[in-house]
Amino acid sequence: MTERPNGEPLVRLTGVNKWFGDLHVLQDIDLTIDRGEVVVVIGPSGSGKSTLCRTVNRLESIESGEITIDGQRLPEEGKELARLRSDVGMVFQSFNLFAHKTVLENVTLGPIKVRKQSKTDAEKRARELLERVGVSAQADKVPAQLSGGQQQRVAIARALAMDPKVMLFDEPTSALDPEMINEVLDVMTALARDGMTMVVVTHEMGFARRAANRVVFMDNGRIVESSTPETFFTDPSSDRAKDFLSKILNH
Ligand SMILES: Nc1ncnc2c1ncn2[C@@H]1O[C@H](COP(=O)(O)OP(=O)(O)O)[C@@H](O)[C@H]1O
Ligand SMILES: [Mg+2]
Repeated sequence: MTERPNGEPLVRLTGVNKWFGDLHVLQDIDLTIDRGEVVVVIGPSGSGKSTLCRTVNRLESIESGEITIDGQRLPEEGKELARLRSDVGMVFQSFNLFAHKTVLENVTLGPIKVRKQSKTDAEKRARELLERVGVSAQADKVPAQLSGGQQQRVAIARALAMDPKVMLFDEPTSALDPEMINEVLDVMTALARDGMTMVVVTHEMGFARRAANRVVFMDNGRIVESSTPETFFTDPSSDRAKDFLSKILNH
């Protein structure tokens, strides 16, 4: 399922450390993600999951260590950073759509501005993606006319429109009403099955069991465990993970 055509994982973090002032928020993080691999990151609030995601496309800087995408080191800034950053699609808890643009415009903006696609090509592709995430009938509406679940599916389509090599999801269903969670998770599961490389921060354990190749458990800025979903859910090795699982599975 996963492959390393040139011997390199798609994403590699080596010895990554980050501080916010005195807070050592990422501590000696080593993590590799292969092509086609789906990694679910879980852990208590404040353990550094969002920061980890944000360092992968340099929305946050790091103090030491190295991050590579497809074998290339992430530059600090400039054009090269913009290009590498567009290889990484990101979907946040709050959908972050442009409120005054239509759904179609939200999805075509990046491809036209950054990828320099023609409007015709960008719209054709956008309609395919909106179809794929099940919101093609909403193309001409503005985000406020859509449900939360529909907006989040538009956000996924918008990220996919840039043809990213890897997709990062940071608690994509946490802001949704319960009845809308599954429609978003279903889209993500289909994406995983189609071979997209994904890092997903979520507390949705059903999704982790169904779609993840690997579960990474974080606590206090460290990766405490990294194992298959099967092993993680039935036989976690650390007390921290056992404690965390008992809290989220028993309510
Ligand atoms: N911009 C920031 N400035 C200072 N502290 C921050 C900032 N962002 C996050 N933190 C702190 O870093 C820690 C990890 O945060 P975060 O990565 O958001 O954790 P998680 O996503 O696992 O809940 C928390 O203690 C949080 O308060
Ligand atoms: Mg977070």
